[in-house]
Amino acid sequence: MLCDRVTIRPSRPEDQAGILSVERKAFGRKQEARLVDQLIPAPQYTISLIAECDGRIIGHVLLTEIGAPVKALALAPLAVLAEFREMQVGSRLVRTAIETAKTDGYEAIFVLGDVLYYERFGFSGKLADPFSVRWQGRHFMALELRDGSLKGRHGKLEYPEPFLQ
Ligand SMILES: CC(C)(COP(=O)(O)OP(=O)(O)OC[C@H]1O[C@@H](n2cnc3c(N)ncnc32)[C@H](O)[C@@H]1OP(=O)(O)O)[C@@H](O)C(=O)NCCC(=O)NCCS
Repeated sequence: MLCDRVTIRPSRPEDQAGILSVERKAFGRKQEARLVDQLIPAPQYTISLIAECDGRIIGHVLLTEIGAPVKALALAPLAVLAEFREMQVGSRLVRTAIETAKTDGYEAIFVLGDVLYYERFGFSGKLADPFSVRWQGRHFMALELRDGSLKGRHGKLEYPEPFLQ
């Protein structure tokens, strides 16, 4: 272990620089940091959680409200610094985000990502199929936050502008 204890907590405005640095380093490019920088202060509701290790930000996840036939969020991006991977930090961020979204009354989360990774949290491509987005395909998945919340639902998902750039 590189630190004694990893804690997960909601981000605060003063965490922004640390979050952007984690996003840049984890993805090795600037796009995700740019997305986060635009979304956190945007008018849409967001859930922004960080993983902290001895006071240092080592991981981040962002969920943003989207327009959908149900009250829904998009999960993107999820990032953990390379030296802290394979230690369940990403999983803890995702699981805490799911619980927060449930508590906040959301019915579904949509994600575009690695199928093997997101299936472990209950995300499914089948659940996302009836919803139309620009990035349709097998990597596009959905999670019901309440049993049956997506049953019989279909339609277009509207993502905030920063996702479309
Ligand atoms: C993807 C990422 C967030 C995972 O973070 P992490 O903290 O290493 O993930 P965890 O330790 O919680 O991994 C949990 C499990 O998923 C597996 N896993 C990790 N990354 C994976 C991936 N990209 N695809 C499939 N499985 C993956 C792990 O091996 C582990 O398996 P186990 O529980 O059987 O041991 C991290 O690798 C990362 O930041 N990558 C670069 C940015 C990125 O691609 N983010 C988008 C994700 S769609």
